[in-house]
Amino acid sequence: MATVSSPFLRLNPLLRRIDGREETDRLFGILTHSALYNRPIPERHRIVFYIGHLEAFDWNLLRERLGLDQFHPEFDRLFAFGIDPVDGGLPSDQPGDWPMISQVLSYQRRIRQELDTALANATENEDLLQLMNIAIEHRLMHAETLEYMFHQLPFDCKIPPASKQAPPANPVTQQMINIPAGPATLGLHRDSGLFGWDNEFEAHIVDVPAFSVDKYKVTNGEFLKFVESGGYSQRSLWSDTDWTWKSNSDVSHPVFWVPTNNGFRYRTMFDELPLPLDWPVYVSHAEALAYAHWIGRTLPTESEWHRAAEGAQPPKQAREFWNPLPVGSSPALQSAFGIEDLIGTGWEWTATTFQPFPGFKTVPAYPGYSANFFDGKHYVMKGGSTRTALCMLRKSFRNWFQAHYQYVYAGFRTVAR
Ligand code: AVJ
Ligand code: FE
Repeated sequence: MATVSSPFLRLNPLLRRIDGREETDRLFGILTHSALYNRPIPERHRIVFYIGHLEAFDWNLLRERLGLDQFHPEFDRLFAFGIDPVDGGLPSDQPGDWPMISQVLSYQRRIRQELDTALANATENEDLLQLMNIAIEHRLMHAETLEYMFHQLPFDCKIPPASKQAPPANPVTQQMINIPAGPATLGLHRDSGLFGWDNEFEAHIVDVPAFSVDKYKVTNGEFLKFVESGGYSQRSLWSDTDWTWKSNSDVSHPVFWVPTNNGFRYRTMFDELPLPLDWPVYVSHAEALAYAHWIGRTLPTESEWHRAAEGAQPPKQAREFWNPLPVGSSPALQSAFGIEDLIGTGWEWTATTFQPFPGFKTVPAYPGYSANFFDGKHYVMKGGSTRTALCMLRKSFRNWFQAHYQYVYAGFRTVAR
């Protein structure tokens, strides 16, 4: 998306360094042509939907404000919304039910042209800048959710791009850190002049009782002990619904692990490795909670995460590594309490279901962004991963997924109270 300049700029300045379209075009470019109609995650749409969705979203959001007319109402509707299914219901559409790529790409070209021309001539005001922030962050969020999805494709569907290798980290030892009772600051002030999604407002302070928390995210190495001790078949560690899900879908290890005759290997985006014991484990909320129970603890609340993260700084540059970073890779960004790797090294599941903050208001141009998910079935994730765009590595950003969604780049810490 083109950048916008304005004397009363409220567009996140970090967006000026990011071309969202280039980012997502490059991402679709790592796929072979024949993969575009695949459905790597059974609960989600086929990949072709997302090529159309990124444009349809921008168009549906900005069209009226810019005084533009629809030219393909059928695609505007077809590509308007993704899916977030509840247990059981899987989509059953066939590749042939979707338009040809060439049609989707000409829809894309036309939208980009019309939006860019109109934006170049538009009078900027705060409303327009808010819509621009929404469009760009929406696209960048999808870059990460598409990466989760592409991760599940067979390797021969992907062409690895040249990529940065993370520097090796010094080995560290897990420990619990005591956090004294005190205030945690959540959310964004409406008058901060900063862009935030509806669910980030209003800023408020929560008094958090004392607790202790893991200094580092739980690693593959730590989680392996849980797996080897039979944690996946110990009924008492799992809630009723988590147990039913685990049994019905036959889950017995993290989805990123590959069982072999002599132990587990690890599946990255582009290849398979020996299990990296010092990387944070990526698991569903249900698996994270079972591990926490096994070790006699639980997961942090959203407020506890913020309390532990007081004073932690977001990285100054996006990480842009395809793989997770070993725990302990960014000691300079630790919080005032010495908790490490809080931002940009893997999302962290919390015990808190996704709910509005006091003072929540929907954004009229996009009323369903958060409000459609305040159903008690989604859990807040904090912190961001190595694939999260820099502009969203702000502390107030709240992500959310259902408890049984295994595919996200999300790990966890345990707490004791
Ligand atoms: C905030 C990442 C949970 O991917 O479902 C994209 C973001 N909302 N299009 C999702 C989103 C609409 C959303 N998450
Ligand atoms: Fe979307």
